[in-house]
Amino acid sequence: MLDGEGRLIEYLRLSVTDRCNCRCTYCMPAGGVPMLGHRDILSFEELTEVVTACAQLGVRKVRLTGGEPLVRRGLPELVRMIRAVPGVEELAMTTNATLLAPVAAELHHAGLDRLNVSLDTLDAARYAELTRGGSLEDALAGLAAARDAGFSHTKVNCVLMGGVNDADVPRLAKLARTEPIDVRFIELMPMGPCAGWPKARFIPAETVLEAVPGLEPLRRDGVAELWHAPGWEGNVGLIRPMSHRFCDGCSRIRVTADGRLKPCLHSAAEIPLRGLHGEALLSELRRGIAAKPAYHHMDQDHASQSARDMNEIGG
Ligand code: GTP
Ligand code: 5AD
Ligand code: SF4
Repeated sequence: MLDGEGRLIEYLRLSVTDRCNCRCTYCMPAGGVPMLGHRDILSFEELTEVVTACAQLGVRKVRLTGGEPLVRRGLPELVRMIRAVPGVEELAMTTNATLLAPVAAELHHAGLDRLNVSLDTLDAARYAELTRGGSLEDALAGLAAARDAGFSHTKVNCVLMGGVNDADVPRLAKLARTEPIDVRFIELMPMGPCAGWPKARFIPAETVLEAVPGLEPLRRDGVAELWHAPGWEGNVGLIRPMSHRFCDGCSRIRVTADGRLKPCLHSAAEIPLRGLHGEALLSELRRGIAAKPAYHHMDQDHASQSARDMNEIGG
């Protein structure tokens, strides 16, 4: 369906848990955050019911997010359930991949179409520091397992942080040289723990074009602008929510693990969906979509208006 601004809404980002096995510095405070209890999060049946209703309103693409979706037990079963929903043409997942290797083949068989992997550095010590204890080896094993399991069009997401991981850009970009992977650099958005970070950490993604010589503009792909270097298997992408807001073309809605519709990643407004069925559920979804904000108001001095941190929304 169209939102109040005339944008076609066809992409649902569904958070299946707020939990994560990592605690990335920009996403979670050092002490962690209070987590939802099992009874507070939607069951697989409830999640599938939400997807079914969204598909009735025109959603064609569903992405599973977290926290880390793979910490949710039995995820392949949820993949099977959502894949069977009429109207869902694409089912994808965003993951840190550290738990992926043992389940990649099962997820592929269950009907998961595509994976986006978060990877902010290729330096093992820096990875452990940034994720507060995560293993780069496990993440790379997950990425390799995705390829071996038959996943194609895998994307790597790297959040750019000035003075933290900008020196890693050339190495990360080169993943796209020998693998058919799009490596996408994302501008850090001021929300959650990083909202109060020094301004020098917020760097425009344009800096990637200086760090990786030889890139030529290719095309737009969702929120990313793709660049290509001659002879490379994959592409380099820039995702620029801060310097080049892409709200005009936004096609997405989000549902949190506890069943609240977030029409925009950065809006404070949430619409509770839990306990609603049939026409009542459709009607609240319609109301939320109609009221989707035209654009976000973030800049260097204005943090996200979201009442939730990234681990509850899934990006
Ligand atoms: P594709 O289906 O492969 O196009 O994936 P995607 O880019 O939609 O999903 P992914 O989870 O890989 O998102 C990449 C990152 O872009 C997110 O983690 C966010 O940081 C950012 N992002 C995605 N969607 C939005 C959005 O609607 N608004 C803003 N401001 N940032 C977004
Ligand atoms: N700014 C930009 N991207 C972020 N992500 C998490 N927090 C932020 C932020 N503040 C990214 C993760 C992951 C995706 C789900 O969201 O790195 O790729
Ligand atoms: Fe869409 Fe909101 Fe992101 Fe803008 S900030 S692209 S409206 S989700």
